[in-house]
Amino acid sequence: MRYLITTALAYTNGPLHLGHARSTYIPADIMYKYLKLRGEEVIHVGGTDNHGVPITLTAEKEGKNPEEIVEKYHNEIKEDLDLLGVEFDAFGKTHSQIHIETAQEFYLKLKENGYIYEKEIEQFYCPNCKKFLPDRYVEGICPYCGGEARGDHCEVCGRHLEPFELKEPYCVICKGKPEIRKTKHYFFKLSALKDELEEYIKNAEEMPEHVKNMALNWIKELHDWDISRDISWGVPIPGTNQVMYVWLEAPIGYISFTKMLGDVWKKYWLEKDTKIYHFIGKDITVHHAVFWPGMLIAHGSFNLPTAVISGGYLTLEGRKMSTSKKWVVWVKDFVKNFDADYLRYYLVMSAPLFKDCDFSFDDFKNKINNELINIIGNFTHRVLTFTHRKFKKVPIVDEGRLKEEDKELLKKCEETIKAVDKNIRSFKFRDALVNILHLAIEGNSYFQKMEPWAVKDEERLKEILYTCCKTVKTLIYLLYPYMPKKSLALLELMNEELDLNLRGNELKKPKIIFKKIDDKKIEEMKKKLYENRKEEKGGKEMEQIDISYLEKIDLRVGEVIEAEDIPKSKKLLKLIVDLGDEKRQIVSGIKGYYKPEDLVGKKVIVVCNLKPAKLCGVLSEGMILAAEDDEGNLALLTVDKDIKAGSKVR
Ligand code: 2FM
Ligand code: ZN
Repeated sequence: MRYLITTALAYTNGPLHLGHARSTYIPADIMYKYLKLRGEEVIHVGGTDNHGVPITLTAEKEGKNPEEIVEKYHNEIKEDLDLLGVEFDAFGKTHSQIHIETAQEFYLKLKENGYIYEKEIEQFYCPNCKKFLPDRYVEGICPYCGGEARGDHCEVCGRHLEPFELKEPYCVICKGKPEIRKTKHYFFKLSALKDELEEYIKNAEEMPEHVKNMALNWIKELHDWDISRDISWGVPIPGTNQVMYVWLEAPIGYISFTKMLGDVWKKYWLEKDTKIYHFIGKDITVHHAVFWPGMLIAHGSFNLPTAVISGGYLTLEGRKMSTSKKWVVWVKDFVKNFDADYLRYYLVMSAPLFKDCDFSFDDFKNKINNELINIIGNFTHRVLTFTHRKFKKVPIVDEGRLKEEDKELLKKCEETIKAVDKNIRSFKFRDALVNILHLAIEGNSYFQKMEPWAVKDEERLKEILYTCCKTVKTLIYLLYPYMPKKSLALLELMNEELDLNLRGNELKKPKIIFKKIDDKKIEEMKKKLYENRKEEKGGKEMEQIDISYLEKIDLRVGEVIEAEDIPKSKKLLKLIVDLGDEKRQIVSGIKGYYKPEDLVGKKVIVVCNLKPAKLCGVLSEGMILAAEDDEGNLALLTVDKDIKAGSKVR
């Protein structure tokens, strides 16, 4: 069996953050290093995704051309991966000749096999910029809630919008008004592949259960795929002046980049006895478990993915990560302050890969200091220093002469090797690390119980230390995929090779390999993160106003007398509010926080002189005030003792 491991191709529009490391690159690298250690034939192929709107938008924002942006972030991303200790056999770019050719050949084959057809569609076109405006190049107003909408998505009410529903659309480049023009697009007949895809998913034995379920749900409603774009940045569709939709060509990168290794690529993509594992973040599961296998089936020559391993989301200090809100920790900044191996340990240990998990600086410090260092660090250090002091080298003894308690620990080593193997091969990276930790716990208690410092008989002491050193060697071997640098540093002290044998070599002078995390560094990193956030929220920069400004706002106490759902909207409720001398209809974005029936009778604070507006097609004559925190909690403002409806708020 041979293994091809791939990792999602990161968009070259920014460096890597801890979320990328956790969901995709660290688990893939563990799998890769482990299989290699076991002598399997395995390669890791990855690279960057250089086309698509995220890149051109970033280029426009930074006033550069797309090539420059791609070059800059491709290099930064590769540096981040090096810093994390993630190794590749091939690391390519989709903006490269080998990829463009491979993607075009792939496309022509889809066409030859009858999976591509043409259809005329309508698209926004900016007469000013003289170009069609795909996806997020058009912004405007949501026809349902009046909020700001980007392309096909309203940022306020969260609705999906059909292309021309947007009101007052404008071109994001020149802010000009786009017109609607007809254009011919190419479509991929994904809907024709329903049965084959279903069969593939059902029979994919190693496909994780949650990925299977997600894919089977998607397959129920498969639409054909518009795969052409009227822009110039991308892989040209042969015979047209359009480029391929980025999600059609990007996964072909897994093949193109394998080709960078020469003819050996054929073994991985064309021959039997290959397992293909795609490591990705869970937001792109459907692309890898449905669209990509669909393309491969339609093409007809290549191996299909054996498993799509989709890692859960990482939150940061309990909140959703957001690069635009600067609530993010970049890999580069992190490893400047802390060992990359500590990060690898922590991100795996925090939660099983398929679950979401949180990164918190305090928890990081505690797990590393109290778990990794106190257990694994402590055991390995004690054994190596003690053995060095006593014998200067690992004493080799006849295992047949060992005592029951020694044999028990060695048996535990064997069992751990087996358990780790089973767990890693089924993507249970955390379980395997727990197995390793337990072995170190057993090792520590054996050392404690044997009291080698009190043993006078030299032969017996050799047996005990042999047992301990064998356990340390097993730990080093098993830890290597998780913490390669630390593991090699321990190995160096033992003067050993990376395998499971003990040679009885001279030990090097012991030193501390696992150093405790410094509180000061933790505090510094936390401070930096929270300061970013303060700036972002405007805490420092809010303009000061004088009292007359407040007087412009007509705030009054109102009593909710009716409340009902607006079924079309995800967020809005319609309220009738009594203001003493009049009743007003107010549409409020509090659905999901309050049930309509619980609102009736509540006293709320109303902004009465807000210009009337239609939200989701319903007239709203004012606004009620509510407080919202960062965790998504919302509470209405009210009065703390009873007061007449209509009372002024000052
Ligand atoms: O979501 C993303 O970041 C994409 N650039 C991933 C592409 S993976 C593969 F299909 F190329
Ligand atoms: Zn324009």
